[in-house]
Amino acid sequence: MKRLLLPMLLCIALASCKWDNEQDLYPEETGNGTNCDGSTAITFSTSIQPIISSRCLSCHSASAASNLGGGVRLDTYQNVKVRADNGSLVGTVKHQSGYPQMPRGSSKLSACQISLIEQWIAEGTLNN
Ligand code: HEC
Repeated sequence: MKRLLLPMLLCIALASCKWDNEQDLYPEETGNGTNCDGSTAITFSTSIQPIISSRCLSCHSASAASNLGGGVRLDTYQNVKVRADNGSLVGTVKHQSGYPQMPRGSSKLSACQISLIEQWIAEGTLNN
């Protein structure tokens, strides 16, 4: 039994390394490393901007907006805040009725990403 202990511990250690690497490989799932259990502070620059740039700016950047994004820009804090304040940011990503579904033509944001956006708004839509 004693001779099995070391290999067993090694297996557990290796398994947890693999898990860590998977988390690093898919950072967009949780919004650039910010997690959804409330243990990491949510800020515009670390939690919200990475979601917008990976999923929205192909159509809503300054240069793309007029052609692809219906004239809606999400390229700066101010422009995102306008949409947060009028309810359309949450309405579009949650696919609420009365709003076009975003990101257009692509998969819905993860529940984690949506909750980060909602928490950022609940905490005052700060430019942090
Ligand atoms: C493939 C292009 C494309 C992508 C990607 C995209 N959008 Fe849009 N978005 C549009 C278009 C086109 C409109 C114009 C509204 C319409 O459908 O009539 C729009 C409109 C909007 C509006 C305004 C809706 C309203 O009722 O005022 C918001 C807010 C928005 N998008 C948010 C987002 C967010 C957030 C993302 C990323 C999670 C995103 N969009 C990704 C194309 C896109």
